[in-house]
Amino acid sequence: LVKTRVVRDPFLRADAGSASVNGFDVAAVEILPDERDQIESRLRRASDEDFRLVITSGGTGLSPRDTTPEATLAVSDRVVPGIAELMRIESLKITPKAALSRAVAGIRKGTLIINLPGSVKGVRECLAAVRPILSHAVDVLKQSSLGCGE
Ligand code: MTE
Repeated sequence: LVKTRVVRDPFLRADAGSASVNGFDVAAVEILPDERDQIESRLRRASDEDFRLVITSGGTGLSPRDTTPEATLAVSDRVVPGIAELMRIESLKITPKAALSRAVAGIRKGTLIINLPGSVKGVRECLAAVRPILSHAVDVLKQSSLGCGE
């Protein structure tokens, strides 16, 4: 859960190799059970606590307990299909199994929520796909579309 910029992030660095997220300051890393209610309430609270970016990992697949996308959509005011599309397009160049992630991205108030798959490989590949747009996404969510033409 990312509240401000700067610093570093042990979880994503450890799990995602070089994919430390654009110098975002990772304010919290939490592990939740595969319980949709708990995921929803944590996402709501993260938004209430003013986190700018929440990256979830896991629970996007086809098993009955995989409900992270449903939890994300339930708490989101708006969906951002392009982020999931970007991850899927890039991931499908690497493995057809990427089709098995139902990951979504949504916005709740000022918080951008992005689902990633659960595997370290999946996290690394999907983060690499969204890294170029992450800072800009968080910036425009907060205020203007400055820099869109760059
Ligand atoms: N996406 C990328 N980029 N790389 C991967 O290896 N694995 C897939 C998919 N997305 C994968 C990926 C697999 S095997 C599964 S089952 C789904 O993500 C769902 O993973 P999850 O249930 O851990 O979220």
